[in-house]
Amino acid sequence: MPSGVRTPSTSGAHAMVVDGGHGCWLRDVSGNEYLDYLMGSGPLLLGHAHPAVVEAVSQRLSKGSSYLMVNESAIELAEEVAQTVPCAEKVAFNNSGSESTFFALRMARAFTGREKTLKFEGAFHGMHDYALMSNQWTHAPGEAQGPVPNSAGIASGIGKDVVVAPWNDLETTERLLRKHGAELAAVILEPLQRTLPPAPGFLERIREVTRELGIVLIFDEVVTGYRLALGGAQEYYGVTPDLATVCKGIASGFPISILCGRADIMDHADPQRLAQGDHVRMTGTFSGNSLSCTAALATLQELRRPGTYEGLFEKGRRLMDGLTEAMNRAGIPCQVTGEPPAFQPWFSEAVVQDFRDMLKADPARSMQFTELLLDRGILKAHEKFFISTAHGEAEIDLTLEAYREVAEALAAAG
Ligand SMILES: Cc1ncc(COP(=O)(O)O)c(C=O)c1O
Repeated sequence: MPSGVRTPSTSGAHAMVVDGGHGCWLRDVSGNEYLDYLMGSGPLLLGHAHPAVVEAVSQRLSKGSSYLMVNESAIELAEEVAQTVPCAEKVAFNNSGSESTFFALRMARAFTGREKTLKFEGAFHGMHDYALMSNQWTHAPGEAQGPVPNSAGIASGIGKDVVVAPWNDLETTERLLRKHGAELAAVILEPLQRTLPPAPGFLERIREVTRELGIVLIFDEVVTGYRLALGGAQEYYGVTPDLATVCKGIASGFPISILCGRADIMDHADPQRLAQGDHVRMTGTFSGNSLSCTAALATLQELRRPGTYEGLFEKGRRLMDGLTEAMNRAGIPCQVTGEPPAFQPWFSEAVVQDFRDMLKADPARSMQFTELLLDRGILKAHEKFFISTAHGEAEIDLTLEAYREVAEALAAAG
């Protein structure tokens, strides 16, 4: 396992090996319990081992798990996705977010006959070569926006087909869209970029200009899908893309991702187009497997319960406000960005609206914040806090108390 432990927060003094989870709690093999805001990096919208999901998947498992062939759960889930996600006229299943963003870009190239894609600086779209450009791990972005490769091993030719724009800067983005318009197959964006909401009118204008220039607009809703609303960020912000990739929120931690969108674009995956020469290959051994689809169906049933999203937002809002208040009171400069179901603090004096603002925040203090919370049994990623339906009022109170203690500790450390 050459990459070792996944995050710095679980190395060194806090090294741990997970035993299991229940609700919003995680247990390590030494018997320590942690209040979990990492939530598997987002998928556990209902918490760990939700009984309805465990029951549905256990029953399904007795009939086998993976057949390569279309199955009842996949059909039922495709219908559910088409009903809930505004852009979803057609639906395809993959296994990870990276696969779906990769296929979305390929689909856009086949549809438009163009080669280039535009992404935003600091946005994350997964692990394939076109995605690993000028993402949030770009430490030396240079004066102009990228593309800066975020990994060794990416062929140098890839960057030539990637245009990078500054998030929330409409003027520059529109200029780049018009400059490269005739070559651009797609614009791919996270509608909530990491935890940076779109400026008023930003998504709406990108929608208008991409439509005008015949560019496929892809919303990467790997995080926001089913988390901000049943219809994801496109429902929440009221802007409908041409294609969307939806992943983490839907299946309680089972591997599945969805590429969905306009029928005329998605139909490139239809094998009957082979003769026409514009067929997009998109298949995977485990894609649409019945266990993941069953987990998703059970999750959706829970998410549909009245009050689910109101509850998520109310709890998240309490945490965002409490965190801001604790830091203010201790005199620690801090900006909390995001939407209540997924948010994060930036230790910065300045308002954080784009990637360059993110770089101005203090990473050492952020690391310290995460470690101090872990000292108090609260686990989060270095980035976001993920809220689930399993987080109750008692856990929120406990977290607010920890915020106050940690703010004081940070102030004392100077
Ligand atoms: C917005 C976004 N897109 C794509 C991905 C990649 O998804 P996966 O890790 O399932 O490949 C992620 C993962 O965190 C993500 O946050």
